[in-house]
Amino acid sequence: MLGIESSCDDTAAAVVTSDGRVLGEAIAGQAAIHAPYGGVHPALASQAHAAAIDRVVADALSRAGLSQHDLSAVAVTVGPGLSLCLDVGVRKARAVSRAAALPLVPVHHMEAHTLVARLAGLAAHAASGGDGGGVLRDGEPAPAFPFLCLLVSGGHNLLVVVRGVGDYLQLGSTLDDALGEAYDKVARMLGLELNPHGGAALEAAARLGDASRYALSVPMQKHANCDFSFAGLKTGVRLCIESELPPEGDPGRQQAVADIAASFQSVATQHLCQRVRRGIGWARDSLQGGSSAGSGGSSNSSSSSSSSSDGGSGSGLDGSAAALRHLVVAGGVASNQYIRQQLAQVAEAAGLQLVVPPARWCTDNGVMVAWAGIERYRLGLYQPPLGPLQLAAGEEQEWVDLRPRWPLTAEKHGGSTPQVRSSKAASSMARSLTDETRDALATLGSAAAGEAEEATRLAGGGAGAERQWASTKTAAGEAGVGAASCL
Ligand code: KG4
Ligand code: ZN
Repeated sequence: MLGIESSCDDTAAAVVTSDGRVLGEAIAGQAAIHAPYGGVHPALASQAHAAAIDRVVADALSRAGLSQHDLSAVAVTVGPGLSLCLDVGVRKARAVSRAAALPLVPVHHMEAHTLVARLAGLAAHAASGGDGGGVLRDGEPAPAFPFLCLLVSGGHNLLVVVRGVGDYLQLGSTLDDALGEAYDKVARMLGLELNPHGGAALEAAARLGDASRYALSVPMQKHANCDFSFAGLKTGVRLCIESELPPEGDPGRQQAVADIAASFQSVATQHLCQRVRRGIGWARDSLQGGSSAGSGGSSNSSSSSSSSSDGGSGSGLDGSAAALRHLVVAGGVASNQYIRQQLAQVAEAAGLQLVVPPARWCTDNGVMVAWAGIERYRLGLYQPPLGPLQLAAGEEQEWVDLRPRWPLTAEKHGGSTPQVRSSKAASSMARSLTDETRDALATLGSAAAGEAEEATRLAGGGAGAERQWASTKTAAGEAGVGAASCL
């Protein structure tokens, strides 16, 4: 599977096999281009993707020692992301698919971040990468469904129960900034290097700092749910900088920068850990058939009084709740070693195993898109290649849609903060991945059932007809005549 990613500021591609071997990968980052703007500049990002995409895909293929004609399929991120950027990757994927008559797998960016934790052989990859990833030991199986996933990137901050491919229950989301965005903004306020991201620079500064020197408040203490908020913490950091940071040239400035970075990181991580601890309880309740999983956050039932909602060690859980064995942390911020260590303790206390992809597959990359593509392809969730007639009729444009705004799921835990969305915003929101996947699987299931029914009808129906049809087909085959003429 060739995977192509261009949703934000990394142009990436990789070739991955269904047994998890990464045959070749390539990436072109754009951090230097965007650094002066304090965020991703969409038009410049799109131009940079366009300039890089052919080379990145060619490099991934040549490192794999393959040509596009050796591939089985192409997966591409179709959303969420910047449409000008997504468009570049999708055009390239269409072109490869057309040239080699390959099926195309549309991929949700956040699902790719999530599912890469299931890449076969992840532990071995982490060990060979030597970047401290892979809390799984070599030989341990990848997380099976269901698992709890904390998705922390520059644009998203979600806590979800992953019940299957394209099947998510949202326990919590951010009410304002995503944690990666907060890291980037705080790094900027502290005057740290923003290349490749503010996050890594802030983590490095925090390593030299004293987290207890400045008191910042842990967000949302009055909200006993799993939602996140980083806007107040960011303001706290700004006020702290204004009142406490010595001026440029002052010998104490560097240490103060490190101390503020450490305080921010410590408080942000306490917030994450608190939400995840509660989320483990909520996840177990929802898997146990608890009443608090609701659609659209309308039922405001609280699960805080129920048996496992404290994220305890899992004793007394019934079979379905005990099936929850892993906490996956994914997205760019998951490459942060301090956050990993703290969440490892939360997971251990609750009897879960923490799984974090190697750092290079936490930030945007082609491997995660290829692997999500493999998971979806296995279920039949792909577009077959267009035939010459469809190409001639100009159907290529509608073949794979871009989804700049594409929620993972509309199914929210009943305890989440109700979201007030304007009707305009709500109507511009695409259907969720979870709803679409459910419908697509139902259609595929009924198509398969239809085929079986047709087979039964041809065989004359009745008990044992399927076996009869199979043996008739064999007999027909041996006799060199078609099954239909035989019946
Ligand atoms: O997943 P990603 O590559 O892109 C998005 O989909 O957003 O995540 C990028 C985000 C940036 O905000 C970056 O600052 C953050 O991940 N990040 C980090 C670290 N490395 C990257 N945040 C904290 N600590 C890090 N070590
Ligand atoms: Zn991402």
